[in-house]
Amino acid sequence: MKAAVLSEQPGDLVIEDLSIDKPSRGEVLIQTVGAGLCHSDLHFMEGLFRTQLPIVMGHESAGIVQAVGDDVDGIAVGDHVVACLSIFCGRCPQCLGGHPNRCANPRATSRNKGEPSRLTRADGTAVDQMARLGGFAEEMLVHQNGLVKVTPDMPLDKACLIGCGVTTGFGAVTRTARIEVGSSVCVIGAGGIGLAAIQGARIAGANKIIVVDISASKLETARSMGGTHFVNASEVDDVVGAVREMTGGGVDYSFEAIGRSATVRQAFDMLAVGGTATVIGMVPSKDVVELRGIDFLQEKKLQGSMMGSNQFRTDIPRMIDMYLDGRLLLDEMVSATIDLEGINEGYTMMKNGEVARTVITFS
Ligand SMILES: NC(=O)c1ccc[n+]([C@@H]2O[C@H](COP(=O)([O-])OP(=O)(O)OC[C@H]3O[C@@H](n4cnc5c(N)ncnc54)[C@H](O)[C@@H]3O)[C@@H](O)[C@H]2O)c1
Ligand SMILES: [Zn+2]
Ligand SMILES: [Zn+2]
Repeated sequence: MKAAVLSEQPGDLVIEDLSIDKPSRGEVLIQTVGAGLCHSDLHFMEGLFRTQLPIVMGHESAGIVQAVGDDVDGIAVGDHVVACLSIFCGRCPQCLGGHPNRCANPRATSRNKGEPSRLTRADGTAVDQMARLGGFAEEMLVHQNGLVKVTPDMPLDKACLIGCGVTTGFGAVTRTARIEVGSSVCVIGAGGIGLAAIQGARIAGANKIIVVDISASKLETARSMGGTHFVNASEVDDVVGAVREMTGGGVDYSFEAIGRSATVRQAFDMLAVGGTATVIGMVPSKDVVELRGIDFLQEKKLQGSMMGSNQFRTDIPRMIDMYLDGRLLLDEMVSATIDLEGINEGYTMMKNGEVARTVITFS
């Protein structure tokens, strides 16, 4: 089967023909139908975060079940599924404490040393899977706890977006920050994640939804998703000052959806007294965020969000219902549809800031 493989960092993806194993205990083989391009993969391709190589990239995918291993429960051949990288073991303290997105026991849901690799090259080299999914591939072999069965009414080339970007942005607002009705919100960065956060804020009943981006077209898309006020950071020097002016003193909740220490600082500095800044973006591991200590006396809070603090087996079907009811906008988030061969161009479009989300469809 064809897959997009990263073999060096930094590096581009190369389409290779790989062998995929049969599902072993607890595993599911999926024919991929749609795969979204998330910026996290680009961070790895640019070498900002290290990973095992070679590796099939991609972690925002949906497809149809081809085969299941022993002990797979509630997922059968022919089912439509969305994959999520928050693969939970169901028995560690994080899972049992109601935070399966923070599962601390990945060994329970992975193939471990001594077991054959799920993916191999013709010469026998083992190939890893991004986030234990490897979604930029015609087929995926995934632990059942990284999958949720969804209604066949849901188009899979849109469902894939929920696997990472939508769950992450929407969840950061509704689950991590748990904003109140009437809150003022600012989302910095209106890519796939930020647009989902804007929608989360709209559906959760925020009053003001301020959007900051450097691209005028992203701000236009953000307007259609529920943004109410806009700051073009390529035209405004003092982003924090602009947001403070729009809100008469700062926002209740801010969300950083880019992954830069400078914009994390902006997210914190634009808070009203008692406000909460949530960092969604992946800030490069060597970067440091500096804050003014005195601000903590105003009970301002800074927190991270991992995959929107999801409980994806319940969250994803709910978001699908919201899409089918017309409240969660996904079609409007897709700027381009490409085939697997076009993947590097897809990431070039992301780097150039031309697109919201790009989706690969597999024929
Ligand atoms: N926390 C998590 O669990 C999680 C999950 C998925 C993605 N992420 C991270 O979220 C971030 C966003 O991902 P994405 O796929 O939406 O990326 P994206 O490239 O689609 O969007 C980023 C947006 O930020 C804008 N931008 C860039 N620099 C800016 C600046 N200085 N000021 C204002 N806007 C600016 C761009 O124009 C773009 O619209 C990435 O760092 C990604 O790795 C985190
Ligand atoms: Zn992602
Ligand atoms: Zn666990």
